[in-house]
Amino acid sequence: MKIFLIGFMGSGKTSVGKRLAKSLDIEFIDLDRHIEFRAGKSINDIFRDSGEAEFRKMERDALADLKGKSKCVIATGGGTPCFHDNIQFMNDGGKTVYLELTGDQLLQRLAKSRSKRPLLKNLTDKELKVFIEEKLKERASSYLEAQHRVDASHVTNTAHRILQLVKSN
Ligand code: S3P
Repeated sequence: MKIFLIGFMGSGKTSVGKRLAKSLDIEFIDLDRHIEFRAGKSINDIFRDSGEAEFRKMERDALADLKGKSKCVIATGGGTPCFHDNIQFMNDGGKTVYLELTGDQLLQRLAKSRSKRPLLKNLTDKELKVFIEEKLKERASSYLEAQHRVDASHVTNTAHRILQLVKSN
């Protein structure tokens, strides 16, 4: 079983993914960490040195790199399904699950964790609110291409719900 978790920054893909992988007794992979490992530098430094377009190519290549893995939970980055043919690639290669939160819920979470995220780190509180509203609107159609959609308000419940979903499908 191969599961791709998708959703906006701060939707809990990593926390839920770790829990899910543990329950299923399979490997957990964080796509951002995999990109950092391949590049030998942090996501922040990749954005600073090479820009977003180059990061998106690295993201696509990192995803392709994991094609051979058959049993794992992969937490993708917030933009992963929105670039290149990534959403199709993931839908073809495994089960995709969208971790859904409202803009207000995301704002509450992201206001506290901006520094490691290059797209957010220089934004004021006001700018962050606008950014989330706009990006969520822009990205929703890609997120909704996932095969499953779950409410991501509580890590434990979310992981449990995904377990039920993937086992019955
Ligand atoms: C991004 C989300 C980040 C990371 C990069 C770009 C995005 O991952 O891939 O900073 O475009 O939404 P998280 O969703 O894990 O924060």
